[in-house]
Order: sequence, then structure tokens, then C-alpha cells
Amino acid sequence: MRAVLAALLVLCVIAVPAEASDNGLSIRPAMGWSSWSFIRRWPTEDKIKAQADALVSSGLREKGYVYVNLDDFYQKCDANGFVVDSYGRWAVDSAKFPSGIKVLADHIHDKGLKFGFYVTPGIAKNAVTANTPVEGTSYHAKDIADTSQTHKNYNCKNMYRLNFSHPGAQAFINSWANQMASWGVDYLKIDGVDASTIADVEAWDKALRQTGRPINFALSNNLPIAQATTWKRLANSWRTQGDVECYCGPGPNGSGFPLTDWAHVSSRFNSAAQWQPYAGPGGWNDYDSLQIGNGDQVGLTADQRRSHMTHWAMAASPLLLGTDLTALTSVDLGMLKNDRLIAVNQDGVAAQRIVNSGVNQVWRKRESNGDHIVAFYNTGTSGNSTVSVTWSQVGFSGPAAVTNLWSGASEGTVSSSYSATLRPGETRLIRARPNVQRYEAENATISQGTVDSNHAGFSGTGFVNYTNVTGSYVESTVTAATAGDATLTLRYANGTTVNRPMTITVNGTTLTRDFPGTGAWTTWANSTFTVPLAAGANAVRATATTENGGPNVDYLDVSPP
Ligand code: GCU
Repeated sequence: MRAVLAALLVLCVIAVPAEASDNGLSIRPAMGWSSWSFIRRWPTEDKIKAQADALVSSGLREKGYVYVNLDDFYQKCDANGFVVDSYGRWAVDSAKFPSGIKVLADHIHDKGLKFGFYVTPGIAKNAVTANTPVEGTSYHAKDIADTSQTHKNYNCKNMYRLNFSHPGAQAFINSWANQMASWGVDYLKIDGVDASTIADVEAWDKALRQTGRPINFALSNNLPIAQATTWKRLANSWRTQGDVECYCGPGPNGSGFPLTDWAHVSSRFNSAAQWQPYAGPGGWNDYDSLQIGNGDQVGLTADQRRSHMTHWAMAASPLLLGTDLTALTSVDLGMLKNDRLIAVNQDGVAAQRIVNSGVNQVWRKRESNGDHIVAFYNTGTSGNSTVSVTWSQVGFSGPAAVTNLWSGASEGTVSSSYSATLRPGETRLIRARPNVQRYEAENATISQGTVDSNHAGFSGTGFVNYTNVTGSYVESTVTAATAGDATLTLRYANGTTVNRPMTITVNGTTLTRDFPGTGAWTTWANSTFTVPLAAGANAVRATATTENGGPNVDYLDVSPP
């Protein structure tokens, strides 16, 4: 018994993924926009408002893109680093934000959006020089700063470490978090985090919680994987790598278009393969901003942008746009609003890589309803490539009903393997729904039709010829374990050029489907539709509505609810 318990314990330790933060936030990956990629070092109140307004007018807010995250450079520096307020916290640059942060956050909230803000670890040198008081305490900056060491900071620099053994250090971070909460901050990115700043991350986590305001806590950037369980315990997301921006634009410090390049996006494939086990509700691997919105000028072709979005969706990464929302192109807006891609991102499952061979990659994930999502990529920059998997590599045995998730088109029933020939940078994203039940037409109840076998390519022993009669039908008794909407695929051929419409009736529902010419009686095509099934037996009848009769019908595939 002891041995059994011990073995169970070992199994539990192996099977239970790292614990997520229990702050109750970001149960799904955050979606929105961040100022860094496009606005870069020059954010202003007006620019941020314009982006927030565009998030609404573009319809992106309705799709779930709700965060408006103000990144670095809202602060002011002098020769000694950050200018601070009377309690030693970074002072907001009033030339850039004349109305202050609260007014900006209010504007964003009034639009039904959420406001994100930015900080880095430590305390500013100017706070220590002025020995500012720690709000609500009798402590001062000099009591809590460790002036022997500075922190990473990309902008004004001069951030001293805090001495967390002194109670005033936590009180200082609390006062800063309280100020942010009073302004209406909903998301805080703490940048410059590494293995040496765990105490700062812990202090900020505590500080955000004690505000009582839900504030999504995001760590940045290039977090070491050795401490992955720590980042997961303390925060809702963590950047796994350096910036996705190429810093190769014509503006100062490489700003402006292009924002990125394919090398910066495709480097996220290896990172996602390593970090995959750490993603889950409440804690996400953040692969950095999504550079989609402004067409090719972002530095990616349309194929590469679709691969970019596919990979972020498969990895369940936050979807934080980096682009200029005031100049969205219709092609890119279509990508960002694709409900099927968003659903793959928001399913909260991080995909695993199952093929990594030259330029070819295949990733898979299984959603809670049993669907398998499979992404194929040609990551190369020249030449087409054929990328293939078997269903057993994906993790199930066939057949499966396949839907192309970028187009939404049904690809019918695929028995055991799938392959896609892809242009350089191109992706294919499919949903494979297994447990397809096939009902051969020749085994169904047939009214005024014949079973024939004179046109090749059919499945089973034959197909049904509707004999050019109005009202001839094929009826299959379809069994479902549970009630719900089922996807049906009817395989047919129509060797004429005239449509042969039929009604499909099941459980009192009737729909009319067109069955246009397929080119030849030996050319079989799929017609896919959704019908409600009851638990148990369901009579599904396909009835010809014109005197030409129906098309030749091979089978009905049912993908159960
Ligand atoms: C041809 C064809 C049949 C088909 C029929 C039709 O006779 O060979 O398979 O059923 O046309 O018009 O329906």
C-alpha cells in the first residue's frame, strides 16, 4: 500500500503542471495593443487616445482586443536618471501627458477598454539623492535603497536596487502600486526582469494584490527558463525572449517601419517548443507583440503575417498588437478579426511541436472538446515545401472531419494523414475532429433510387443514383451519443452542369443544399453542413427537389456533437 501511494505521489508530481499565480487574472491570454513597436519612444496623450479610439472604430474591441498598454517613455529623465514625485516614484512627463495618466485611463475605460502601464525594478537615484519619504511611513529612500548596485533599465537608467529586508522597501512598492491603482491601471508590465530580480517581482506581486484592484501582471523580457515555475507562480505572463522588433527602421534608434522581420518572428518557434509546458490558465508564455495591421510595411509578407498569427494562436500567447491601429489595412484587419484564429488562441492550450525538419514544422494541440488543432509551416524564405503528418503523430486515429481554420472551408473527411504544400512563409491551420461515422448511401433507406457502381471513386460497394425523379430520397439513421449540433459531410458527384438541389431534413429541421456540377460523374465532392441531432437515433433524409433528381450520392459522414 505504501509503495502504491508513493508511486501515485510520484505520478502526481510528474503530471501536475507548475502552479499558476492565484491572483485570479488572465484566465485567457490577454488581447489588445501596446505602444512600444510603433509609437516607440514618443508616446503622448493624443497618440495613445487615437490608438484606443481606433481599437473601437476598427471593431477589434468587439473581438476581444481590449488592453491599451502604455510602454516605456511616459517618464521624464534628467542627467541623473528618472525625475521622481514627492514620494520617490517616477514622475510622468507632463509635456507628453498634460492631463495626467488618470484622465487618459478614464478615456480608455469610457471606451470599454483596459489600461496597461509600465515599470522596471528598483528605486530611482533621484529619489535617493532627495531622500524622498515613503508614502504613509516614517521611512525614506535612503533607508531602503542599496546604492551599491543598479538594475537593468533601458531608458533613464540609474535605478538602485531595493533592500527588501527593510520593511520600507515593500511599503515603497505598495505606494507606487496604489498610485497606479488610483489612476485605473489594469495591466502592469515590469521590464528588465531577470533571475536577480525575483525579490522585486515578488514585491510587485504583493503590492498589486494589496491594492484590491485586478491588475494583470506581465514580466519582461527574455526571462530565463530555469526559473519558469517562479515566473508562473508570480505573474500572468512572461516574455520568453528579447524583443520581436528588428530596430531596423529608418527613424531614430531603428524606429518606424519595418517594425520587425521574419527572423525575429520565426525565432519564436524554438522558444515556444521549450516553454510550452509552462502555459495555462492564469499564466502565459508571451512571445511579444503581434506585428499585423499595416500590410507588408511591418516587415513581413502576408503569408508570414498569417504564420505569425497562427503561431501566436497555437502557442496561446498574449495577442498584443504592435502596429498603427489608425492605419489598418483591410487584409490585416481580416486576419486579426478571424474568429477561428482567435478561438484557437483563447482555448488556453499551448501547442507542442511534432515536426521540426528543415523548413518544415508541424504543431498540434488538443482542445477540451476533443478537437485536434494542427498548424503546418514552411518557415523558409525561398521555395515551396510539402509538410505532412499522420493522424497518429497528431495523437489520434482517423478518420477526422477537417476544417481549414483560416478560410473556414470544410475539407471533408481525411482518413489517416494530411499534407500541405506551402509557399515560403506560408501556414495551414486545420481543425481535425475525429470519431467520424460513415453512413454509406448504398446501405441507407432508398426511395425511387438505385444502387449503382459504374462511376469510379466511390467508397464502399456503390452509390445511389436518384433516377431523375423529384422526391427520390436517401435516408440514413444516424446515432448520436449526446444531443447537439453535428457536422455532416455528404459526398456526391454531378456529371452535368445543372445544379441538383436537395432538402436535408432531420428532427424537424429542413435545409436546402445546392449540388452543382462537379465536372464528371467520377469526380466526387463534399458538401458540409451543420444539423441538430438528438441523443439516440436520428433520421437524416436527403430529398431531390427537381425532376433531374439528386446528384449521385456516395455517403454521409457524421462528426458527432
Ligand atoms: C447518368 C449517370 C448516372 C446519373 C444520371 C443522372 O446516367 O451515368 O450515374 O445518376 O446520369 O443524370 O442522374
